[in-house]
Amino acid sequence: MTRILVADKLASEGIEKLRSAAGVEVEVRTGLSPSELGGIVGEFDGMIIRSAVKVTADALAKTGRLRAIARAGVGVDNIDLQAATGAGVLVMNTPDANTISTAEHTMALLLALMRKIPAAHTHVLSGEWKRASFVGSQLASRTLGIVGLGRVGRAVARRALAFDMRVLGFDPFISGDTIFDGAVKVVRDVEELFKEADCLTLHAKVTDETRNLINRDAIALMKPTTVLVNCARGELVDQQALADALNEGKLAGAAIDVFPEEPPVGNPLLSAANVTLTPHLGASTAEAQAAVSLEAVDTLLDYLVRGEMRSAVNVVGLPAHFSAYDRSFLDLACRMGGILAPWCASGVRRIRLATYGSDLRKLTSTLSRQVIADILAPHIGARLNLVNADTVAKERGLEVDAVAHENALDYPDTVSVTVESGEGERSVEGTVFADGKPRILAIDGYRMEMTPEKRLVLIYNDDRPGVIGLVGKLFGDHGINIADMTLSRRERKALMVLKLDEEADESLLRSLREADEILDVRTILLPALHVEP
Ligand code: 3PG
Repeated sequence: MTRILVADKLASEGIEKLRSAAGVEVEVRTGLSPSELGGIVGEFDGMIIRSAVKVTADALAKTGRLRAIARAGVGVDNIDLQAATGAGVLVMNTPDANTISTAEHTMALLLALMRKIPAAHTHVLSGEWKRASFVGSQLASRTLGIVGLGRVGRAVARRALAFDMRVLGFDPFISGDTIFDGAVKVVRDVEELFKEADCLTLHAKVTDETRNLINRDAIALMKPTTVLVNCARGELVDQQALADALNEGKLAGAAIDVFPEEPPVGNPLLSAANVTLTPHLGASTAEAQAAVSLEAVDTLLDYLVRGEMRSAVNVVGLPAHFSAYDRSFLDLACRMGGILAPWCASGVRRIRLATYGSDLRKLTSTLSRQVIADILAPHIGARLNLVNADTVAKERGLEVDAVAHENALDYPDTVSVTVESGEGERSVEGTVFADGKPRILAIDGYRMEMTPEKRLVLIYNDDRPGVIGLVGKLFGDHGINIADMTLSRRERKALMVLKLDEEADESLLRSLREADEILDVRTILLPALHVEP
């Protein structure tokens, strides 16, 4: 059973989809504090959230069975991404589903400001009719300055162009001088936008560069007739500086949908002049909420049930979708890691992975993450997977090289992995045959064609007569059946790989190790083979 926690208000469309999914159990628990969330989150495989619940490092201290968080919306600033990545929890969002709603709310606020609608409404309710006090301004021919030309910024630009506005944009990640066939000019210096804009709207993420972007210095560059709209994130604006500017007439008005603390208790904007406030409603339309809830459910279940990743926020460089070919090589990598892991108990200095064959090129870094996870996992007592393998390797100072070679070796696509550990250098080479099954082609340079599964014993010995008989007798004496055996030799040494039906007990392993001819003995446990139809 896949258990999903819905920890924020989610549209009924998404909840119904979860409830009707086979093998899925849903629990809706909203209004949880980080510590309450931390107390239960480990009981679920996946969680769906919006912006209200705070997924802090404390809330993720005991992730238990949690593997993924889906944000029904865009912003993930309420999730401690570092903690999620460290715990191997994938975070995904729905990057586009609420774009139009947010752009429309921006336009609504802009029009409300320019035509003084909230104040006019209050005025009429109070029984007055002083129309001259509410003379507004047209949008047409005014200059709109857009900070951030991502999805929402561009959607706002299109709408503003339809209102015959002159549109300028600032976005350091856009290289051209214009967008939309020259209709929107991209300025290189945000200060130019502050100086020129009659209306300024923010559509940027909060980063170290953008936090408090609208501060006293920025406001000092603006015209006293400028109005500001913020439907992105509260942290982009110095709240006190904006409130002071509005009260002192240094800005004509502001419409604010988002706040650093929500709800904005004690925020100076609550009592500022010429301000219109809404409670983070950018994405709050029936259409956007249905869309984000359905997309979050699909994204989460695709990952949990089928291993497909979409819109991942805390991992980069992973393919969005794993084909049967990709999955067969990931399975191979996991088995290769499992074969190398017994030599890494005293620490790993370096892991080198190389792929040979052009089809494997796009998978090379993913395979390296998989190998890291399977080599380290038995030794570090933490869950490791494709999400956190790189981070954990980096934290531990592990050197990782992943190299893709276009040329094929003896087989069309092969993977080779070498580890340098406290026990020297070890290597393994493998491929996937046309039957979809993994094959190990070499261990430490000993060539073979071995299907890696279940219980293996690797016996390194001197290549002399009688060793096979000795090994067979010891196993017979201990009543352990050898299901399969692979032999390989080079430079007067040999490697036997035995497959066992049952576990070799300690006394058998001791007897093997005590034999003069036997140089090393390692046991390995790999998963049973699962070949996709
Ligand atoms: C977002 O980041 O998607 C918007 O800010 C909407 O947030 P919400 O899902 O809490 O309405």
